[in-house]
Amino acid sequence: MMRNRLRVAVIGCGARGQYHLTEFREHPDVDLVACCDVDAVRLEAAGQNFGVGRLFTDYRDLLDSVPVDLVSICTMPNTHREVTVAALSAGAHVLCEKPMAMDAGEAGEMVEAARASQRTLAIGYNMRWMGSAQFARRFVAEGRLGVPQYAHVYTLDSGIPWWARNYVKAISGGGVLACTAVHILDLILWVMGHPEPVAASATMMRRFPERRGGTAPSPEARAAYDVEDLLCAHIRLAGGIAMTLEASWTHDALVSRYGFELTGSQGLLQFAPLAVLAERDGRPVDVTPAGVADADWPASTRRGIQDVVEAVREGRPPLVTGEQALMVQRLSDALYRSATIGREVEL
Ligand SMILES: NC(=O)c1ccc[n+]([C@@H]2O[C@H](COP(=O)([O-])OP(=O)(O)OC[C@H]3O[C@@H](n4cnc5c(N)ncnc54)[C@H](O)[C@@H]3O)[C@@H](O)[C@H]2O)c1
Repeated sequence: MMRNRLRVAVIGCGARGQYHLTEFREHPDVDLVACCDVDAVRLEAAGQNFGVGRLFTDYRDLLDSVPVDLVSICTMPNTHREVTVAALSAGAHVLCEKPMAMDAGEAGEMVEAARASQRTLAIGYNMRWMGSAQFARRFVAEGRLGVPQYAHVYTLDSGIPWWARNYVKAISGGGVLACTAVHILDLILWVMGHPEPVAASATMMRRFPERRGGTAPSPEARAAYDVEDLLCAHIRLAGGIAMTLEASWTHDALVSRYGFELTGSQGLLQFAPLAVLAERDGRPVDVTPAGVADADWPASTRRGIQDVVEAVREGRPPLVTGEQALMVQRLSDALYRSATIGREVEL
């Protein structure tokens, strides 16, 4: 079946925007028609490097003057709600980067704008497109792990993501939770079939600048740093499922570790390195399948973008929907609130 090509615009041509620009440019069914960045130098460079004809420093001018089918939003979280709602209202479908917004109120407005305009809203939780994630989701959905009982999830980095202002709360919405751990929260909720979070209890700390103080790229960055870089939590989910989360940017390990171990009534699934353990004669045995493990970040970005392009062209929902990402945002809000007031909060 011949289908129309998709006209795509990218808003925000920074670190993440360049990945999106690369993938859209290489997609055979996409015309990359415009891009936008408030930083004129960055915009010019993106226009040249990716061969984009129409360049804008104000996204409203882009939406007003260029017909687009899909807008990819790669700005920092403080602008996600505003740009997403404007793009949806202009009649475009939207792929917005994670975290969805600054809080669940904003994320809810984005979901509502997509509903009202009857356009697609997808969120950039690309980890779901890793081969190991796809396997884990299938394995759990088919009931082969039994009933999910306990998830241990972690994102343990030894360094701070200095490449963007992830360390300024008014821009990023938060530190290691908002920037990094949301990926793994989205992943585990999806793998388990989105059990509702019921209550959350968290502790957070800012270890910088005592730890990694010397790694700040400038005195300004060091002075502006106002986010948590360590967060530990216990989360209760519907059905009596328990979850613990450990997230750090200042973890003293030689290798960063992202992943989860999910205990079900019939075994345990570990994400990275992928492993499946089942009980035989009262003992755990390794029943990991061969050939399915893959935790390739760039490949997962590519597959996520391909999915959104196909979803828009076929009129079906994307894998990562706005509604699902809103659940992550609600959980993230609850974790921050719990850490702030020092006790468990209900969702
Ligand atoms: N899924 C992933 O793997 C992944 C990886 C990195 C970043 N991200 C997310 O992508 C988003 C962007 O992160 P980044 O690292 O690329 O940040 P960045 O600072 O490198 O890029 C953001 C760009 O947006 C521009 N910008 C800011 N306000 C704008 C506006 N109103 N209109 C147009 N342009 C504007 C900035 O000038 C900048 O060039 C964040 O939400 C981040 O969490 C996702």
